[in-house]
Order: sequence, then C-alpha cells, then structure tokens
Amino acid sequence: MGGTSSDTAGSSLRTTPGTTPGTTLRTAIAGVGMIGQVHLDAVRRSGAPVVGVSASTPARAKEAAAALGVGRAFDSSEALVTSDDVDVVHICTPNDAHAGLAELALRAGKHVVCEKPLTTSSATADALAALAADSGLVAAVPFVYRYHPMAAEARARVLDGRAGEVRLVHGHYLQDWLSEPGDTNWRVDAAAGGPSRAFADIGSHWCDLVEWVTGHRIAELTAVSQTVDRTDPAGDGAPVRPDTEDVVQLLFRTDRGATGSVTVSQISPGRKNRLWFEVDGTRTSLAFDQENPESLFVGSRGENAAVLRDPATLSPAAARLSVVPGGHPMGYLDCFAAFVRDVHAAIRAPGAAGGSAADGTGGTFPTFDDAARMVRLTEAVLDSAADRTWKEVS
Ligand SMILES: NC(=O)c1ccc[n+]([C@@H]2O[C@H](COP(=O)([O-])OP(=O)(O)OC[C@H]3O[C@@H](n4cnc5c(N)ncnc54)[C@H](O)[C@@H]3O)[C@@H](O)[C@H]2O)c1
Repeated sequence: MGGTSSDTAGSSLRTTPGTTPGTTLRTAIAGVGMIGQVHLDAVRRSGAPVVGVSASTPARAKEAAAALGVGRAFDSSEALVTSDDVDVVHICTPNDAHAGLAELALRAGKHVVCEKPLTTSSATADALAALAADSGLVAAVPFVYRYHPMAAEARARVLDGRAGEVRLVHGHYLQDWLSEPGDTNWRVDAAAGGPSRAFADIGSHWCDLVEWVTGHRIAELTAVSQTVDRTDPAGDGAPVRPDTEDVVQLLFRTDRGATGSVTVSQISPGRKNRLWFEVDGTRTSLAFDQENPESLFVGSRGENAAVLRDPATLSPAAARLSVVPGGHPMGYLDCFAAFVRDVHAAIRAPGAAGGSAADGTGGTFPTFDDAARMVRLTEAVLDSAADRTWKEVS
C-alpha cells in the first residue's frame, strides 16, 4: 500500500465531508459482481442513493450501471473512490484491489466499506487500520453474520451471564462450490485472492463471529490445511494443484482460557454456506446455523430449547435487528441492510466512527481494526499449517 504507515498515516488526509444528520450519503460501489449487488440492495434499503458504479472495464461499468439503474458509470474504481460527488464508497472488487482502493478513498476523505479480506497481507492491513483511525472516517468491513438476530441473541446470553463461563467453542464453515475437478474462480489464484483462500474467504467470517459472540480472542492456534488437484481447463487434462488451500482445520485456545476448533472447507459436497458454531458455557450451550437463522439452540442439563426469533421475547440487542415479526423469515440480505444502517448511523454521529453502540453492548459493525485482526489470524493459520507448530496471534 503506497506510502501508508502508522507514522505517516493521516498526513495527507482531506477533510471529512459534511455528514450531519439528514445529510444525503451519496454512495458509490466499486465492483458489482455477486456481493456488489448485495451492497447495492442494502444501500438502497437504507434510503441512501447509489450514485455510481465501476467495473473491471469502462464498458462493463456502463453495462452494469444501465442494468442496475445507477446514474453514473465510472471509468475506473480509482476515479470512483476519489470523486467529489461521493461520500461513501463500497469496495467489492476481488481481494487484490482492496488495499489500494481503500487507501485512496480514505485519503480522499471518503467513508469506506471494504469487503473482506481487507488486504492480503497483515502489514498492509495494520497500516490501513491506522490510517482509518487517524482519519476519523468510518471504515467498516462486512463480517455481516454478526447481524443475524439469533447470533446477536447468542452474544447477549454470553454477555449477561445466562450461558455461564465459556469453556468450549467449536463449529465449521463448509461450502461445495470448488468440490468438482473443473471448478475454479479468481479466488483460487493467489495473485488475485491472496495467499489464503478458504480461510481468508470464509474461515475469517467464522472466527470474527465467534470472537464477537463470546468476547474471547483466539490467542494461540495450530492448523492443518489441504489442497486438492484440479483440471486445468486450458491444459491437456493433467491435474494441477492450486496455490491456495481448500480446507483448514484449526485447534485454538482463547485469551480467556477456552479451547476451540473449526473446520473450514470449500470442497464439501452439498454444503452451500454452512456456517455453524456452538459455544458451550458452564450453564448453557448455544448453537447457531447460518442456513437456518431463525432459531438458536439453547442446551442445558435440564431441558433443551430452540429459541425462535421473535422481537417480543429476544434480548434488546437481537430485537433491534429483528425488523419483521417472528414467523416472517429474515436472512442474509437483512444482515447487510442492518450493517449499512449502522454504518450510516455512525457516519451521522460524530465520534461514533469505529463501531456502533446502538445495541447497548458495544460495537456491532466490524471495523478495519477487526478486519486487520482477521488478516493477522489468517497469516498465523498459514504459518502454522506450513511448519506444523502452534502460533500466537498478536
Ligand atoms: N461479506 C461477505 O459476506 C462476502 C460475500 C461474498 C464475497 N465477499 C467479498 O467480496 C469481494 C467480491 O466477491 P464477489 O463474490 O462479489 O466476486 P465476483 O467475482 O462475483 O465480483 C467481483 C466483480 O468485480 C469486478 N472487478 C474486477 N476488478 C475490478 C476493479 N478493479 N474495479 C471494479 N470492479 C472490478 C469483476 O469483474 C466482478 O464483476 C471479495 O473480496 C469477496 O471476498 C464478501
């Protein structure tokens, strides 16, 4: 990341644009593939205008702007993130472009929502987090599973003591979209996706979520990884081994004495987006399944329950995210909408940058600091898998 370090961060920042209550937050989205369109929907639901988009080429940007009903197609993402006509930028490009665009945007005085992984190296992520902190701008990363009401309910039950002391955290995040020999994507290539694939792409979501739910931090870990051969579509059918991992299995200890494990895979047939975790406390166990997010398993020695999402009965932190009555299923798109609402609330509340306290229990939306931590964790995972030793996570 050109020129950014914690020493020099902020030296060439422009002034934060006027974002007092009622100000229209003109939003532009760099990259409108799968997730860029989810961001677009969330921003529109918040009431803010999406004033422009960019794509991999100017022609594609024009096509996308027309298809999505957006007024302006920027010729480049660099032009988009520095435009005087934009207050908030969403960076939804492949991973290798995140750091450069986020730095440009912050230096141009824009609030930034940048997709994960924030960067593909921890030094760059830390520098970017420092730049964001110095800027006073809101810099958020959509680890959006925090916004499932029943995940927030799990967190509330840990924080208020109903779960007891957390002893054990375990689970998995499984997908199948790379399980066939011919399956590929830009993520498979380390040059575009970064040195870690499965862990950076989805393992980071799981770790961010369980750290947020428990308040524990993964302090030490050991990992094994696996990469399977593919068939190169441009080759003669000979197997090729990608340079990024398909599977990570992780054992860890937290800073507060719990132990845990997680299996992360993108080659598990039939598993589409199976993020599942369980937190076992001294009083109750809490289990959440992202694909069935309307309930939370609460286990105890006496009786087990599936607590249903119902704003009338949930903890305040979960009820505030529960925007329709129970029995009217909510899901992934609602998480993004709630995330964007919190980001906008923070932009409009001077001093609130760096996480919303709207749920009364501390920040909900993940910041560049949280995202930089996940990049450091990812590096520890790769290092451990490479030399088969335990690693501390800074
Ligand atoms: N938070 C989440 O839940 C979540 C979910 C999916 C993806 N993501 C992240 O979002 C990012 C994009 O993933 P995706 O699944 O949408 O990928 P995608 O391949 O569907 O879309 C990426 C788009 O960016 C375009 N692009 C490439 N270079 C560009 C540039 N310089 N400027 C503008 N556009 C450019 C591509 O042509 C493509 O249309 C990744 O970093 C990924 O990790 C996050």
